[in-house]
Amino acid sequence: MAGRGTAAVAFVCLVFLAASSAAAAAHVHDAAEHGVPQGLTRRTEADVRAMFDAWLARHGRTYNALAEYVHRFRAFRDNLDFVDAHNARAVQRGGFRLGMNRFADLTNAEFRAAYLGSSTAGRGRNAVGERYRYRAEDVLPESVDWREKGAVAPVKNQGHCGSCWAFSTVAAVEGVNKIVTGDLVTLSEQELLDCSRNGQNNGCNGGIMDDAFDFIVRNGGIDTEKDYPYAAKEGKCDLAKKARTVVSIDGFEDVPDDDEASLMKAVAHQPVSVAIEAGGREFQLYESGVFTGRCGTELDHAVLAVGYGTGTEADGGKDFWLVRNSWGPGWGEGGYIRMERNVTARAGKCGIAMFASYPVKNGPNPKPIPPAPEEKCDRYSSCPAGSTCCCTYGVRSVCLAWGCCPAKGATCCRDRTTCCPSEYPVCNAGKRTCAKSNGSPYTVDALPRTPAKRQRTAVSELVDSIFSS
Ligand SMILES: *[C@@H]1O[C@H](CO)[C@@H](O)[C@H](O)[C@H]1NC(C)=O
Repeated sequence: MAGRGTAAVAFVCLVFLAASSAAAAAHVHDAAEHGVPQGLTRRTEADVRAMFDAWLARHGRTYNALAEYVHRFRAFRDNLDFVDAHNARAVQRGGFRLGMNRFADLTNAEFRAAYLGSSTAGRGRNAVGERYRYRAEDVLPESVDWREKGAVAPVKNQGHCGSCWAFSTVAAVEGVNKIVTGDLVTLSEQELLDCSRNGQNNGCNGGIMDDAFDFIVRNGGIDTEKDYPYAAKEGKCDLAKKARTVVSIDGFEDVPDDDEASLMKAVAHQPVSVAIEAGGREFQLYESGVFTGRCGTELDHAVLAVGYGTGTEADGGKDFWLVRNSWGPGWGEGGYIRMERNVTARAGKCGIAMFASYPVKNGPNPKPIPPAPEEKCDRYSSCPAGSTCCCTYGVRSVCLAWGCCPAKGATCCRDRTTCCPSEYPVCNAGKRTCAKSNGSPYTVDALPRTPAKRQRTAVSELVDSIFSS
């Protein structure tokens, strides 16, 4: 399979407006907001206003100016009409439902313009993996849900940052790590935002899952979410955290393009990163059911396929992909969307079969490097690993106050405040310099000491030493 045709796209992603996380967690269905009016009677102005105010409170949203409020109210009312009309039609036909979710005060044009990235032509796709190419003799499970196997972490929230690609990547790695090692370890999107600048990856301005997998392979692994938490903005790469390669992968491959059967086979084996077009108004306001709404194949968002199945009668019995989004648990079905599967278009619904890829993991994770032990100065005082204990104040042979010199095997200078590194072991306390040897012209600045950490007071140590001697 030479060249995958598809121009690479940096998924700049849909992101949602900053909102309180409490609001994000609350997925309240209240009848007034979601109810379908009998025979589509138009709601009164007062009703809509009351709903809007309740919505503002629920989502912790405030506007700076009256004009903004008026504009947002208009968009809200227009979306409400759209949702009401859609749901009135959908309810008889097992269709998916829309709701007045966190995007309900944005027109679709605003939603796209503010939160959708433009596609940028780039390099083609990587090597297509053959392991999940569908063959006629393959027998695949009827349905798959990796959540049931504990391979999917709770839904995360990318906030106001075009980082969907990092969330899709991390979730796929979390999944394969659980499958191979048995442990679900939540991993760091922030490390990818800050440190993965390879390929088309560009922090909150978008990126590509394959480039992020590539980064993790080359880095030897990725750090945990706990150690390198998400900040919803780019920062400087934390090299110490980048060096903590808690979970590793051995490679990554692309699912054969435009082939839902192969995507199914891949998802049957592990959660798979997929790209979709998510800019449609129905996607914006999706609430539940098997999504059959309008969308094209202008890929602008990255998510994770964590399963597939066939809907119940209430869903019209439609086949679906189970897709985990990164807009918090308040969007869609607890943060998920079920998207129509087994469609006539080869690209799949919203292009879901166009740009799928997955990490490959063959073995265990790197052994954690044990933290170096502290330097013990005496029973009660210690200095950080890799430093030297210097006695700052002593009585007879008892040191009452220790200092720490920030170098291994250092010489402690008589001035009580400095020390010299092992390569320049001769103190010149007056000049606060250190020489290679006596009288040598090669000198460096002396190092300052810091106080040692102590568990007990000097007085209790002195008392101890008196009683023990
Ligand atoms: C796709 O749909 C057809 C017709 O409904 C069905 O017979 C077939 O089993 C479906 N294929 C998959 C892979 O679900």
